[in-house]
Amino acid sequence: MHSVEYLMNKIQNAFPEGNFLDVPIELYDPIEYTLSQGGKRLRPLLVLLSCEMFGGNPDEAMNPAIGVEIFHNFTLLHDDIMDQAPLRRGVQTVYKKWNSNVAILSGDTMFVMAYEYVCRVTPAKLPDVLAIFNDTARKVCEGQQYDMNFETQVKVNLDDYYMMIRLKTAVLIACCVKVGAIMAGADPQDAENIYKFGENLGMAFQLQDDLLDTFGDTSKFGKEIGRDIVSNKKTFLYLKAFALANENTRAELAQLSQDQQINPNRKVQRIQEIYQSLGIDTITQEIIEGYLKRAIFYLEQVAVDEGRKAGLRKLAKEMIHREV
Ligand code: IPE
Ligand code: IPE
Ligand code: MG
Ligand code: MG
Ligand code: MG
Repeated sequence: MHSVEYLMNKIQNAFPEGNFLDVPIELYDPIEYTLSQGGKRLRPLLVLLSCEMFGGNPDEAMNPAIGVEIFHNFTLLHDDIMDQAPLRRGVQTVYKKWNSNVAILSGDTMFVMAYEYVCRVTPAKLPDVLAIFNDTARKVCEGQQYDMNFETQVKVNLDDYYMMIRLKTAVLIACCVKVGAIMAGADPQDAENIYKFGENLGMAFQLQDDLLDTFGDTSKFGKEIGRDIVSNKKTFLYLKAFALANENTRAELAQLSQDQQINPNRKVQRIQEIYQSLGIDTITQEIIEGYLKRAIFYLEQVAVDEGRKAGLRKLAKEMIHREV
């Protein structure tokens, strides 16, 4: 089995600078801009680590690994329009640097490119790989729609939130490890267990993202802090604060959400204060640890030697104890 560093190096080499440039340049420049930025490249790493854990050859899983990373990057281009996010990976988002039309069309092209790579697998594996990828891509769209619906929906509960993040984020993480399993020829029970591992890890990952959106450091996180608060996202933090707050604070939270005139910095600052007074960051961390535990439980069910699981086990921990 290879080290994470070795696999990550292979992944980085799959995204060489200049590789995505073509004409019309207006279409491909933003694609090159996005794909050469890096990002953490967690999803392809998950594909390769899972494939190796099941005894497969990571080279054979490389194309779908690149495919899921391009798909992820496509979702970010469109997500940043929907969330009106100015900053990603420490630089301007595509829709800010160019405009929304550019981000839509370059994103669409990346979706096609993602399929081109995902489909480049041996014919025997193609139906299973495509089935999970199609199911995932559709679910991500469903999750993104719920995410937007909830911005203005008054009644949203924690179960709604968990359903939404499962769709928009967790299923893609789950898809990655399942694709690795399929490429290695793992048996269906193992593929199902590793899917559950990924799904629970993905839940923890999105909760951590929500936490960093409010309490992170822009210089590390690379995104503008407080965007979720400004957009009235129904994050775990918000819903938990609303549930725990007394009547006065509840009224204030509701009023802050509805106030169109308020200075955004003031809104972020006040809601951060409310979260802090209610201990929301600690509570969120506890929930994240719970999902990590559940993820590890499913990893333990996988019928391969414990030693082979070390890579995924370590990455899972790093993914949720991150500041980036
Ligand atoms: C951001 O994903 C979108 C979420 C699902 C939270 P990542 O945090 O993996 O983004 P990059 O690719 O490393 O920038
Ligand atoms: C990301 O959710 C989900 C997808 C992109 C599908 P967020 O909107 O929280 O992601 P970031 O924080 O912008 O990366
Ligand atoms: Mg966003
Ligand atoms: Mg979003
Ligand atoms: Mg976020």
